[in-house]
Amino acid sequence: MTLAPASLVISHIGELVTNDPTHGGLLGVIEDAAIVASGDRVVWVGPTSELPDDTDAIQRIDAAGAAVVPGFVDAHTHAVFAGDRADEFAMRMAGASYEDILASGGGIYSTVRATREATLQDLVSASVPRIDHMLVSGTTTAEVKSGYGLDVETEMQMLEAIVAIDDITPIDLVPTFLGAHVVGPEYKDRRSEYVDLVMGPMLERAAPLARFIDVFCDDAAFTIDETRAIVSAGRNRGLDVRLHVDQLSRSGGTALAAELGATSADHVDHASDEDLAALALAGTVAVLLPGVSYAMRSAPPDGRKVWDAGVTVAIATDCNPGTAYVETMSFVISLAVVTSGLTPDEALWAATKGGALALGLTDRGVLAPGMLADMVILDAPSHRHISYRPDGALPLEVIKRGSLV
Ligand code: NIG
Ligand code: FE
Repeated sequence: MTLAPASLVISHIGELVTNDPTHGGLLGVIEDAAIVASGDRVVWVGPTSELPDDTDAIQRIDAAGAAVVPGFVDAHTHAVFAGDRADEFAMRMAGASYEDILASGGGIYSTVRATREATLQDLVSASVPRIDHMLVSGTTTAEVKSGYGLDVETEMQMLEAIVAIDDITPIDLVPTFLGAHVVGPEYKDRRSEYVDLVMGPMLERAAPLARFIDVFCDDAAFTIDETRAIVSAGRNRGLDVRLHVDQLSRSGGTALAAELGATSADHVDHASDEDLAALALAGTVAVLLPGVSYAMRSAPPDGRKVWDAGVTVAIATDCNPGTAYVETMSFVISLAVVTSGLTPDEALWAATKGGALALGLTDRGVLAPGMLADMVILDAPSHRHISYRPDGALPLEVIKRGSLV
């Protein structure tokens, strides 16, 4: 068999997780496997014994029994921001509530102040180390939201920073416009004017740079009706929809996400059985964020219940300075297993294929011919070591679009 010129051949992979069900099971595992990439794409996967010997590889790696998994797809982050909120973390651990801190002008508003003071260069410099850490920890694609500007200029600057970081780092970033994170501080007694600003001038400027529109639909942020209006305006500008729903309480956002046919419904901690049934029917992906409940000392998302309701599940870090300053998907995979009731296989699937589906991306999350060659060689013989050893099974090598990072 003759292959296209191969740039990378990895052989003697103890356990190759393909997420391709034609190889059997949820994860499509091939043992003693090999994978060949040409340029940024996978061109061949199979047993090492069947590896075509005429591949003229530029780079050959003997995995010596290590496991290889698809690169993690982190489908929900707020990883571009200035400052930090370590002081508030200490207050919350001493008993203060997230909602009270927000209502008194802290929380998201504190990060908005720091982000408004930052220049574009400041924002890029503050965020690149987080993005780099994500990448070396195995995340090859990440969504990043705006939402710490809450005025036209700073929301634009955040989206410009996301695009700039996407250009200067190997990771692929997917920008989301979240002007409707909370009501802008200048508009607290004029919330309908803020909603008009988001749907009008802010969206008009943001839409060309963004792929998705998001709204924090919650008692502490935007109502169901406001969310419906903002989503509709975003769709008219060509953006797909993802929503923060039922995070702090059940306000009906999960049902709304299903009704609107959103690409993803994120958090869904307080969703009812009926809400989950509606999500399953709509084909909306639930993005679970177990790092948030860990850092908020709240009940973890019931991943078992969501998965068993037939909903497509993704897990993500929610990396943000308030509710989860978490950059590594391996930690979240472990939390999803230990605290949210997913099996190690389900959690890995949710962190890879599930994340890709949550971003509407069909070219990644699976290691099969034609897909992006985004993968991680683990310092372990099985992917199960990710959840089993939450601080141990680190990536040995990260490969992004066929190149070693
Ligand atoms: O996903 N829920 C709203 N947004 C973030 C928190 C943002 C922040 O506190 O800075 C979240 O948890
Ligand atoms: Fe979030």
